Amino acid sequence: MATVQFKGIVKKFGDNLVLNGVDVDIKDHEFVVIVGPSGCGKTTLLRMLAGLEEITDGEILIDNLLVNELHPSKREIAMVFQDYALYPHMTVEENMNFALRLRKMDKAEIASRVAEASNVLQLNKFLKRMPKQLSGGQRQRVAIGRAIVRKPKVFLFDEPLSNLDAKLREEMRVEIAKLYQRLNATIIYVTHDQVEAMTLAGRIVIMNHGIVQQVGSPIEVYRKPCNLFVAGFIGSPTMNFMTGKLALEGEALFFKNEDIKLSIPPYLLSDAKKHDGREVVLGVRPDDVLVERDGEKCSDKVQGVLEVCELLGHRENLYLKVGGMRVLATVEAFFNRSPGSAVTLCFNYKNMHVFDKATESRISE
Ligand SMILES: Nc1ncnc2c1ncn2[C@@H]1O[C@H](COP(=O)(O)OP(=O)(O)OP(=O)(O)O)[C@@H](O)[C@H]1O
Ligand SMILES: [Mg+2]
Repeated sequence: MATVQFKGIVKKFGDNLVLNGVDVDIKDHEFVVIVGPSGCGKTTLLRMLAGLEEITDGEILIDNLLVNELHPSKREIAMVFQDYALYPHMTVEENMNFALRLRKMDKAEIASRVAEASNVLQLNKFLKRMPKQLSGGQRQRVAIGRAIVRKPKVFLFDEPLSNLDAKLREEMRVEIAKLYQRLNATIIYVTHDQVEAMTLAGRIVIMNHGIVQQVGSPIEVYRKPCNLFVAGFIGSPTMNFMTGKLALEGEALFFKNEDIKLSIPPYLLSDAKKHDGREVVLGVRPDDVLVERDGEKCSDKVQGVLEVCELLGHRENLYLKVGGMRVLATVEAFFNRSPGSAVTLCFNYKNMHVFDKATESRISE
């Protein structure tokens, strides 16, 4: 398998600067997931690594070898696309062995590789079928099989499951996790799906505006997003944000705006004096908004009004209004209160996030 390094990668399409200095080091046998808004350059980055797109500036290394000028066929990379891109006039078997036949590989070796891949992906029954006779999930398995038989150094997946329905996506997600363990492969995987990113990734790369915002394990980027963008992007439902000012009263630090006043514990922001007067954005995940109910009591109470309640199953989304602010709380079902009723809530201080309003960078520890 292989390491991959992106060093100062820049990509321009005409005047359009799409990637503006991307640096990422991917270790051997790592599963790296790239996320970011539509148009931020994820596919372009994969295509550059595969050799399908010219590099405007910077260097790409595979196993410490500079590949900027290396022909795609020599890079030992296989890419699996969102739309499968199967050859419609070939059977499943022909789709899978096409690249190997092109390489004039020994027939016995081809047969053994295809057999191995179709076993792993449970495609044996479908080998003689045409792509149009397969379901979406089966087609995607063929596309993955076609990549596996080549025994590439690196697998690139570009939103491979986004055309599948929710149930199938879940199944294929687990299949990909198993495949990863089995193949000992280095994988770079692009997705818009939070669950795929959190569950599959060893590390997540979050991109925006052509630059890498943060790289870290799923739990690191979830617990300690380095800026407002990452905080809003990772986690579903989205984090609540409240704009206000930090104010020192005696020795204690508070967050204040027109609607609320909350104490900021010293473990969130030590050296309270330094922050007096600072304009900040406070972030609280919906899971960390607690509501007062059956026996549970809130400390540092805030008063709100319930606007809408969404039942998700064992959890519930409560859309609350606190003064002029909107706050979403995700709580255990059933809250059993009608819209318009008053709700007492509080925030889990341990998991609060404080960002500087001007720089948008995280300032809480
Ligand atoms: N061949 C091209 N010529 C000109 N512009 C391009 C080309 N390919 C991509 N772009 C532009 O580059 C930017 C990044 O595109 P890219 O496909 O990499 O985004 P993405 O992050 O994969 O988005 P999505 O999540 O929607 O797939 C977009 O603004 C896109 O319009
Ligand atoms: Mg894309």
